[in-house]
Amino acid sequence: MRLACWLVMFAGCCSLTAGIEPISTSIAVGMAAALTGFLASYQNVLYYFHECCRPEWISFNKTGLKYDLDTKLYGQHVAAQVILKAVTGFMKNENPKKPLVLSLHGWTGTGKNFVSQLIAENIYEKGMSSSFVHLFTATAHFPHEMHINTYKSQLQNWVKGNVTICPRSMFIFDEMDKMHPGLIDSIKPYLDFYESLDGVSYRQAIFIFLSNAGGENIVQVALDFWRDGREREEMQLKDLETALSLSVFNNRNSGFWHTGLIDKNLVDFFVPFLPLEYKHIVQCGLSEMVSKGHVPDKEVVEMMAHDLNYFPKEERVFSMQGCKVIPSRLDFYV
Ligand SMILES: *[C@@H]1O[C@H](CO)[C@@H](O)[C@H](O)[C@H]1NC(C)=O
Ligand SMILES: *[C@@H]1O[C@H](CO)[C@@H](O)[C@H](O)[C@H]1NC(C)=O
Repeated sequence: MRLACWLVMFAGCCSLTAGIEPISTSIAVGMAAALTGFLASYQNVLYYFHECCRPEWISFNKTGLKYDLDTKLYGQHVAAQVILKAVTGFMKNENPKKPLVLSLHGWTGTGKNFVSQLIAENIYEKGMSSSFVHLFTATAHFPHEMHINTYKSQLQNWVKGNVTICPRSMFIFDEMDKMHPGLIDSIKPYLDFYESLDGVSYRQAIFIFLSNAGGENIVQVALDFWRDGREREEMQLKDLETALSLSVFNNRNSGFWHTGLIDKNLVDFFVPFLPLEYKHIVQCGLSEMVSKGHVPDKEVVEMMAHDLNYFPKEERVFSMQGCKVIPSRLDFYV
């Protein structure tokens, strides 16, 4: 893939008429024209088949992202609003002063991974399978604490290497709460307001951190709302922000602890994901049936949703597992 990009660059740059002096000018011109035509179409074919760091493969679809957030993400009105605003603002800005850094918080199964996927799909033609989108999972990529120094330099090199190849690269860090606090330190300079570092500019890049940290506090706010008899949809970012930043600051296991990422304001947005209710689980179940090629069956999905765990125990308001378990659970009911 990379070879194709180099070929394209070479074809685009090389001068075609140089070095063919002995042949008469008219033939040379004719040949050059033919060659140029051939190379131009060859170039287009390459662009078409091989992902390159070019607008053919990387362009932001705001309508698409809004549509996806409105129709495919359930129960997350605050997150949807913040994400759309943040990503649109960043992608429209031709001269951002720093990369976009988002930190998504909430319990598992509330849609953090899913939202990252939606963002990727509306920027990169190939979505999550784009070679410019990189997903790092704490337990898979950086499992052993004793190797932290190796991981640090590895991560630094990966980010630098990939941004050098394509400035519009996206890096997703899953399980931030399980990351060694020092790891993120190693890429902190890349998240900062520098014009460039060693000749590489990181200002077009996107960093997304996913974390369960702060989840408990978000749940508490949601529970208080519910106990006060207020509508879930009344909840706003400001109602959740304090709870979130307090828990991220003070939590040793947030992955951010002592990184200075927060006090230097390098995180542009902290995005809260609310605990899901029964009705959202049903929505997830119905769309899962569709994506598995079944006819959506409300009765089946409700049976499955009913058998899941909810809390508080008496009132059964919020789902414990969220939508994450649905793909496997559903198989027992279909
Ligand atoms: C953007 O997304 C919308 C909705 O998904 C889709 O209809 C449209 O074709 C997309 N536009 C481009 C340029 O891909
Ligand atoms: C880009 O990142 C991947 C990990 O996602 C890594 O394996 C690869 O070596 C990096 N590329 C460069 C050129 O550093």
